[in-house]
Amino acid sequence: MSQEGFTLWFTGLSGAGKSTLANLAALELRDRGHRVEILDGDEVRTNLSKGLGFSKEDRDTNIRRIGYVCRLLARNGVVAISAAISPYRDIRDEVRRMHDRFFEVFVKCSLDELVRRDVKGLYEKALRGEIKNFTGVSDPYEEPLNPELIVESDRESVEESLARLISALEERRYIIGAPREKKTSDGRAAR
Ligand code: ADX
Repeated sequence: MSQEGFTLWFTGLSGAGKSTLANLAALELRDRGHRVEILDGDEVRTNLSKGLGFSKEDRDTNIRRIGYVCRLLARNGVVAISAAISPYRDIRDEVRRMHDRFFEVFVKCSLDELVRRDVKGLYEKALRGEIKNFTGVSDPYEEPLNPELIVESDRESVEESLARLISALEERRYIIGAPREKKTSDGRAAR
């Protein structure tokens, strides 16, 4: 079983589904024997990047920090997963260049759908002008030009996105083989 690390980098607007897909991918990869860490934007901003705001400068600092930690993890055999908006192409590409093995997933979703979902209620506020520099509304999001994978969370189910992600990782030999068979308590295969 391959234990080589790499960085799995999700990018996309708030609410597009980066964290959901990152968490499902982490479960699947752990099931296959990989060691996995997730650096989630919302969580990183409460510790590693505490105090940073949403100016371009602060976002760049946030992404460089996440990229740096991902690199440390990846080169020590861990699958490092980043789930932050990471809106700027130049910094994403800078982080890519720091890595030997880097897989970028663009989690694409229309603004209409994001406003309709509005899980955190932030789009409504941003559209009313109550949150300044909100990505996709009043702040830029630069789509990746050549990501390893694009998933469209407003057009496919999360299960479909996950399946496509896992196949793409297998094709690149970043991950190998199906999950280890789970056994029930009486020793029979559970799946
Ligand atoms: S990033 O731009 O630096 O990559 P990050 O992923 O860490 O962003 O944080 C994004 C999260 O912060 C959003 O999901 C949202 O909950 C919250 N947030 C608060 N203000 C903003 C804003 N102005 N733009 C985008 N997200 C914001």
